[in-house]
Amino acid sequence: MDSQAFPDGFLWGVATSAQQIEGAIREGGRGESIWDRFAATPGRIADGSDASVACDHYHRWREDVGLLRSLGVGAYRFSIAWPRIVPRGRGAINAAGLDFYDALVDALLAAGIQPFVTLYHWDLPQALQDRGGWGERDTAAAFADYAAVVSRRLGDRVRHWVTHNEPWCVATLGHEAGEHAPGRRDPAEALRVGHHLLLSHGWAAEVVRQNAPGAEVGIALILSPVRPASESDADREAARRMDGSFNRWYLDPLFRGRYPEDAVADRVRRGHLPGPDLPFVQHGDLRTIATPLDFLGVNYYSRVVVRAGDGGEPVAVPVVPEHERTDMGWEVFPQGLHDLLIRIHRDYRQPAIYVTENGMAHDVGADASGRIADARRIDYLRTHVAAAQRAVAEGVPLRGYFVWSLLDNFEWARGYAMRFGLYHVDFATQRRIAKDSAFWYRDLVATGAVEDGAQQPNPRRIP
Ligand code: FCB
Repeated sequence: MDSQAFPDGFLWGVATSAQQIEGAIREGGRGESIWDRFAATPGRIADGSDASVACDHYHRWREDVGLLRSLGVGAYRFSIAWPRIVPRGRGAINAAGLDFYDALVDALLAAGIQPFVTLYHWDLPQALQDRGGWGERDTAAAFADYAAVVSRRLGDRVRHWVTHNEPWCVATLGHEAGEHAPGRRDPAEALRVGHHLLLSHGWAAEVVRQNAPGAEVGIALILSPVRPASESDADREAARRMDGSFNRWYLDPLFRGRYPEDAVADRVRRGHLPGPDLPFVQHGDLRTIATPLDFLGVNYYSRVVVRAGDGGEPVAVPVVPEHERTDMGWEVFPQGLHDLLIRIHRDYRQPAIYVTENGMAHDVGADASGRIADARRIDYLRTHVAAAQRAVAEGVPLRGYFVWSLLDNFEWARGYAMRFGLYHVDFATQRRIAKDSAFWYRDLVATGAVEDGAQQPNPRRIP
């Protein structure tokens, strides 16, 4: 069996986000978020749940830092809840919120774990949504102010900053598909939202760099290789459109300072834009958005295979039978991570890349001995890490890898049935139980090398 080593200094981590784990949504001075409001609206969350308790991390964070220690990870990516810091989005600052993250950062550093702070992982203060949310340019300005508050407090200790998590999801799932908060269905608004997210990214990057000397600033994008379902011209054209609206719509402004012309033309054709001049783009915006970054965060879960539907619109087609997909219904396609990393490096040449999320929803109960044998997750992670390693061997400047996620948690509109954690959470008791994948990951982190062949999980207990 081949064992492939990663370069020295390669950072192994796990990721979470505030809305998905903290709970305590009405405690400690926290304001309401758009996900609180969305989840309280009947029919929005698959299992009717909400994030009011989630993993109760707000109260159990010390225990959770202990889990990170047990894994031996060098980094932990978590997000700050904007409504904990500025409960109404603008104006009064909540000291208790800052204190919470301050203590968490100190505990991480004391454990030798580097904090990777995400400033926005989808929990917009509802008060800002009431004034138009990300559709308003003013929200981008409010975000920069919030970023200033956080970086002033944590900038002396936090080195790695992620401005936004997956702006595509916020814009498209939240404002075009209506599946995520705030549940809007307005394609023209979604484009405006995407622009304001990018603009606020640029402003926040500047502010963070001012307040945190030596900071490394990046953004985490959801990215997927897009493949045509057949070699027909129509399917290939559908794949080009999908790649344009999903991947290049964000990569090009960030790293080339312009929106992709072909994708803009697609939007004009669909009636989402009046013409090729984007009405929401003001002078200087693209220069702000393209401010050079220290790293790109890549969130990878699967590839997308599309065929041409009505009017040539891309329609995703399942390529593997349901039992081979994850609980989310996503194909397991490790080669896609390799191909994606190679493509990003070839086309955009960023100084450093991190895989900021990768993982699988896979619900496995405990056996009679209490063991959670999540072999499919181990297989998923192992093959994806191996794919990342091949990309490193081919010259991609990949500096680290984060598993999504530390804990089973509130998986947005899918509720609690989608379990992504290395640790199982019993939501009735809040007990955390290490799955086999946690032991496997601990061993990977310890050796820094991945076996390319099948590997037996090591069932030794960790606390
Ligand atoms: C990503 C999100 C993360 C989690 C995973 C499964 O899109 O960033 O919060 O929901 O998917």
